[in-house]
Amino acid sequence: MAPSFTFLLFIILLNGTSSTRSGHRKLLNNKIKQQHFCLGCVIMVSVIEQLSQFHNSTVKEALGRLCSYLPEKLELKNVCSLVAHIFGPDIIKLLENKINAEVVCYSIKLCKRKEGQPFCHLYHSSKAGLNMAIKEAKETATTRILKNIHGLSSICSLPFLKNLCEKIENVIDSDLPFKDFDGDKFSTFPTLRGYHWRGRDCDDKTASVYPGRRPDNWDAQQDSNCNGIWGVDQKDGIPYEQKFCNGTEPMGVVLLGDSAGAHFHIPPEWLTASQISPKTYSDLPAALANELDWPQFSETTGFLNSTIGGRTDSIYLRLHKRNRCNHRDYQSISKNGASSGKIWNLVESLARSQQFDKPAIVTYAMIGNDVCNGKADTVAAMTTPEEMHFNVLKGLRSLNSLLPKGSHVILVGLVDGRFLWDNLHDRYHPLGQLNKDITYEQVYSFLGCLELNPCNGWLSSNGTLRNITSERASLLSSVLRRIAKSEKYANFDLFYMDYPLKEITEEWHRLGGENWQLIEPVDGFHPNQIASVLLARIFWEKILHEWPHVLGEVNPFNNQIAAVFKDQGGY
Ligand SMILES: *[C@@H]1O[C@H](CO)[C@@H](O)[C@H](O)[C@H]1NC(C)=O
Ligand SMILES: *[C@@H]1O[C@H](CO)[C@@H](O)[C@H](O)[C@H]1NC(C)=O
Ligand SMILES: *[C@@H]1O[C@H](CO)[C@@H](O)[C@H](O)[C@H]1NC(C)=O
Ligand SMILES: *[C@@H]1O[C@H](CO)[C@@H](O)[C@H](O)[C@H]1NC(C)=O
Ligand SMILES: *[C@@H]1O[C@H](CO)[C@@H](O)[C@H](O)[C@H]1NC(C)=O
Repeated sequence: MAPSFTFLLFIILLNGTSSTRSGHRKLLNNKIKQQHFCLGCVIMVSVIEQLSQFHNSTVKEALGRLCSYLPEKLELKNVCSLVAHIFGPDIIKLLENKINAEVVCYSIKLCKRKEGQPFCHLYHSSKAGLNMAIKEAKETATTRILKNIHGLSSICSLPFLKNLCEKIENVIDSDLPFKDFDGDKFSTFPTLRGYHWRGRDCDDKTASVYPGRRPDNWDAQQDSNCNGIWGVDQKDGIPYEQKFCNGTEPMGVVLLGDSAGAHFHIPPEWLTASQISPKTYSDLPAALANELDWPQFSETTGFLNSTIGGRTDSIYLRLHKRNRCNHRDYQSISKNGASSGKIWNLVESLARSQQFDKPAIVTYAMIGNDVCNGKADTVAAMTTPEEMHFNVLKGLRSLNSLLPKGSHVILVGLVDGRFLWDNLHDRYHPLGQLNKDITYEQVYSFLGCLELNPCNGWLSSNGTLRNITSERASLLSSVLRRIAKSEKYANFDLFYMDYPLKEITEEWHRLGGENWQLIEPVDGFHPNQIASVLLARIFWEKILHEWPHVLGEVNPFNNQIAAVFKDQGGY
């Protein structure tokens, strides 16, 4: 980027933020907090430090290398250059004095110690060392600039950062409602809640055409349900949809889920100096537009071959194989941070009409957030069994008013998250692998200190607390089990299934794997692609074994559908 452009951005920065004085600031929802800047700074400075170490280059070169690898989209390259321009000289000076990333970030005031609170540590730096380094760095160029722009929280009011900030807010904030693309629930665009989340629309201009609907006039004229089967067989004059699909119990797949179901994933290459290359960040803009979720590879609605390791297997793919009439009929109604209390947002976003659409298999799988929160008094903030009962009944009642008759709902229990600490706490995090200096225990504790820990109960060194969290999770699962036993609904039958963690690990051990390999390496919290693939199969086989009617019969016309319609228009 030309220096003059940097300068221009800088002017915009100063002008844009000074207007925040006149009440403008109140309009900002400030989802991105000071602590996010601190976390972002520590990660970025760690990566820069490790890049310079790995390539035996200067810090300045490493910073330039990182910025040059970032894509233009979402202004990522510009933001990097701007950050390099503002903070670079200080970061370079401090890192060249062998000061670690967290001290750098405290020194340049991107991390701030709250009144009466301790420093937050990712590394093993001593408190005395921190204090001294910070005193020495008291008045840097950066702190002067930060003073001028009235703090970081106003940064998202800059017009050119609006788009990026919005994407980041969508990743971190579970309360933001879904933004359906173009106000239309089905779309021809992949990300931004497009067809990575629910089946691609095959005629975006006609509102009565979308995946999952019952065929209009047997789709003799057009493919009203986007399953790729339409037209009339010239040999006998019978519409193909009638011939191949009528009476085969076609069915959609719907997930009401959290970040695990949406398949949250941060590629470890993004943070691993030894793997960073010019191509590393090419998928960053699309990943941000998908809220860092990858539903297209997930265990419930996955339909594309995984590009994040492993294979893809899913309930949708298996149901599609069983009956090709189900092509494209999937919806991942899931959100990072969702819990039973957010069920209303989820059900509201479901696109299903009792009048026009086919029945669906709905999986309710909120496997942790009812006990996971970042509150200091985490136990008090957990969902109680009474609240759980209330939330889920409310959700089921509204599902009953939305789902076509003959649907099925499967409630999945909460996972036992002690698995995470037990298998990761003494292993090295991707950021700690180069110098063997950051374990998951350190990461969890750093996140806890920043009040950004996604689960203070389980991602904690306190074994008593981890046990209490699991006890609550188990109580909440039994609420779901009881509801499935006692409640009856007109439009669906209702089942309960434990989250099959034990079966997943047993299967993985049989294949020669170890437990830690089932967990997302960057966040140390979510099940990864390997776990998803195992879960899809175990989940499917359980349904097939215990409630086979849910899946319908194998469609005897599958081969003929494939012969006439090939890949049915793909995805
Ligand atoms: C790193 O680079 C410096 C200067 O180019 C050189 O003196 C040094 O030997 C290099 N070290 C390694 C480990 O390559
Ligand atoms: C569709 O299938 C149902 C049940 O198998 C049958 O009763 C009905 O007559 C069929 N309709 C057509 C148009 O084939
Ligand atoms: C996934 O890969 C397999 C084998 O390469 C291929 O046959 C299949 O069509 C791919 N699926 C999708 C959805 O691209
Ligand atoms: C937590 O529960 C496990 C299994 O029930 C038990 O073995 C362990 O002693 C408990 N730990 C603490 C600290 O209470
Ligand atoms: C561990 O957690 C329990 C339950 O929240 C709490 O009572 C106890 O004081 C904690 N122990 C330590 C060492 O912090």
